Amino acid sequence: MPDPVTVRASAKVNLHLAVGPRRADGYHRLTTVYQAVSLYDELTVTAARDLTATVTGEGAGEVPSGTANLAVAAATALAASARVPAQAHLELVKTIPVAGGLAGGSADAAAALVGCDALWRTGLDRPALLAVAETLGSDVPFAVAGGTMLGTGRGERLSPVLARATFHWVLAFADRGLSTAAVYAEHDAADPLPEVPPDDVLAALRAGDPAALGAALHNDLQRSALRLRPALRRTLDAGLELGALGALVSGSGPTCIFLVRSSPAALALAASLAGMGVARTVRRAAGPVPGARVVDPSPAGQPDRAAAGGGGPG
Ligand code: C5P
Repeated sequence: MPDPVTVRASAKVNLHLAVGPRRADGYHRLTTVYQAVSLYDELTVTAARDLTATVTGEGAGEVPSGTANLAVAAATALAASARVPAQAHLELVKTIPVAGGLAGGSADAAAALVGCDALWRTGLDRPALLAVAETLGSDVPFAVAGGTMLGTGRGERLSPVLARATFHWVLAFADRGLSTAAVYAEHDAADPLPEVPPDDVLAALRAGDPAALGAALHNDLQRSALRLRPALRRTLDAGLELGALGALVSGSGPTCIFLVRSSPAALALAASLAGMGVARTVRRAAGPVPGARVVDPSPAGQPDRAAAGGGGPG
């Protein structure tokens, strides 16, 4: 029996999200800048007779454990692609909120791809793994890749972006998730927005300039997320009044993200936001960090976070 494999997969934030027209396949053409941040779901994959999953942690009650689970779907798709039997038990521990705009489901799919690939020794190369990722969701290839990337197509076509610094984020989780499809539908019903290119975000990342990045953050879906969840305006304003360099709804929301200058500034802002009661939970994260990757279990059976690299404040 092969040893169990533990994988850590990161959340993403969108530093720039420009939504183009709806395509014939129902998806929207996107230009987005993704950054992977140090908020992780953890998946342990164990050899088994069939394919099963258990889910614990943040929002576990809202995550299906059957075939509707994206990690299970990913394992199934990988097995089909590699022509191996889909035999594994997936033990998922969630920290990324469900339906939060942080691509938590995509992170879980990426973790299952990387974990099952290692467990089953499929021998698939990276492009083949990314091709399977693409079938599972628009953000899944990025969840495998990590770092900071420009995403085009429906978000699945990636090219690396130079980010010359570690950026410090504060993430404010909302009481309830938002459906991505509902936010896109709201976007379609509203007036079209002028097309904003990602140039300012790319320049700020290249320069490693958090103040410039804070000013350049852009999300076409923020308007629709705020229409569906007006209380988020208060969360965004609170962070800005407390000195954040920039504030934005992440992806389709409802998580609000705040950029600050340093790790101590993140600690201070997180404490103040938590005290104001404008969010259910407030977390800190740094980016960029790697995408889904295998971590070495320590002798005590706990994953060795230091050795896995790409850490940062949690
Ligand atoms: O690709 P994924 O399954 O994560 O997308 C979830 C939903 O988000 C889609 O069903 C669609 O409604 C919307 N979406 C979109 N255009 C994109 C990505 C997602 O309309 N480029």
